[in-house]
Amino acid sequence: MTGVRVGVIGAGYVGLTTAVCLAERGHPTVCVDVDAGRVEHLNRGTPLLDEPGLPLLLRQGLDAQTLRFSADYTDLADRDLVFICVPTPSRFDGSADLSAVEAAVAELASLLPSAAVLVLKSTVPVGTTRWLARRLKPTGLRVVSNPEFLRESHAIYDFQHPDRVVIGADDDAAAEMVAAVYGASAPTLRMSPESAELAKYASNAFLAVKISYTNSLARLCAGVGADIGDVTRCMGADVRIGQHFLQPGPGWGGSCLPKDTAALLHTGRLAGVELPEVESARCTNAAQPARIVSTLSRTMATPLAHARVAVLGLTFKAGTSDVRDSPALTICAELGRTGAQITGYDPRLEQIDQAALRRASIVAVDDPYLAAKDADAVVVLTEWPEFCDLNWPLIAEQSPAAVVLDTRNLLDPASLADTGLTYLGNGMPSGY
Ligand code: NAD
Ligand code: UDX
Repeated sequence: MTGVRVGVIGAGYVGLTTAVCLAERGHPTVCVDVDAGRVEHLNRGTPLLDEPGLPLLLRQGLDAQTLRFSADYTDLADRDLVFICVPTPSRFDGSADLSAVEAAVAELASLLPSAAVLVLKSTVPVGTTRWLARRLKPTGLRVVSNPEFLRESHAIYDFQHPDRVVIGADDDAAAEMVAAVYGASAPTLRMSPESAELAKYASNAFLAVKISYTNSLARLCAGVGADIGDVTRCMGADVRIGQHFLQPGPGWGGSCLPKDTAALLHTGRLAGVELPEVESARCTNAAQPARIVSTLSRTMATPLAHARVAVLGLTFKAGTSDVRDSPALTICAELGRTGAQITGYDPRLEQIDQAALRRASIVAVDDPYLAAKDADAVVVLTEWPEFCDLNWPLIAEQSPAAVVLDTRNLLDPASLADTGLTYLGNGMPSGY
């Protein structure tokens, strides 16, 4: 099936990826965003997000006129399928704030032809799809849940090679219409809207549990003289466990895992069901900054209040400029409260939200050697591969007393030890 007229609401990580990928599949696509500046940039071919493959698909879609961006909802009036990809951030009680979804649906309700299908790609609480369907019944519009599982920094690849396309729908024709835009080869899982909505939260929470368990094991490894790398290598070799998401670090962050675990717990509370594994994963995660601060205060020659701490890596993971809910920034903010001076470097510094860095007490510099100069500690917080290639002997020369705290176990301990620097790996016998 080609030529389904697709609409996409929201031109962020999920919406922009959906729009360029569906346009590439031959579906004439209009993507609407409330941010007129964003729309203007995108219509000029400026991708705005640093996702591999995005610039090319964007340019191809614009040139072929299968893709355009608009700040005007009325440009969606002739669409067959409209994907809603707007934010659903956490409210103070952990529940998902659906105001952007509601605003989008309110616009679309009076606009779309009755045969159109609304597709909820935003991550939404169980019951949202059915609730919207009921509300929209007088218009004839049908609503389908189609949660998105892409990872930032792999967004295009994940969209084009999904492990699964989940379609939660009661209406067979609507479900088939959604499945068709992905193509016959996509591994499609059909279920109820409730199951689809929950499957998304359950998946993200499972990933969070897996990482938190790894981080707790890393702590235990350091305490008993074992090596987390060997332990997870053994665990991951068991296909029932799988090798992914067993990498210790400064805690999990980003725009999804923190908010989705909070929302799942909120759903559990409403249903009277406890989810202690998810609670516990969040507690372990919340304890990560304190673990790093206490390790630094134990191992540095200078008291934290007078220390200079260099931080390498500010984004929530490598390969992105996204600092939303970045563990690196949480850790810097906590270090800042001790009085320590924090100098931060990130390879994507230019694209990073500078206000977020200031809020976390970080003085950002665009040179890793400048960040590390005269430092009492150098803390690796994001697994950027280029940090392995830094001239560590030079850093050792400029900051001979520095402790190198490698939260991601990125660096080679032996080469670091050769420089004379004190190297502390995460969950290593001579680490922390
Ligand atoms: P984002 O912040 O990157 O982008 C959202 C876009 O929506 C912004 O450009 C914003 O201007 C626009 N927008 C907000 N309200 C709007 C409205 N009423 N009408 C039109 N445009 C509007 O968000 P995102 O990361 O793409 O996340 C969107 C949804 O997808 C969320 O529910 C999120 O949980 C889910 N999700 C995100 C990821 C991810 O990796 N980022 C992965 C899977 C699912
Ligand atoms: C996540 C989910 O993976 C994706 O399926 C969903 O659609 C959106 O949320 P993303 O937020 O892009 O994707 O990040 P992800 O790659 O999952 O990493 C999340 C956090 O966990 C990062 O802070 C990362 O550094 C951390 N992490 C990941 C670890 O600490 N160890 C690991 O082994 C893996």
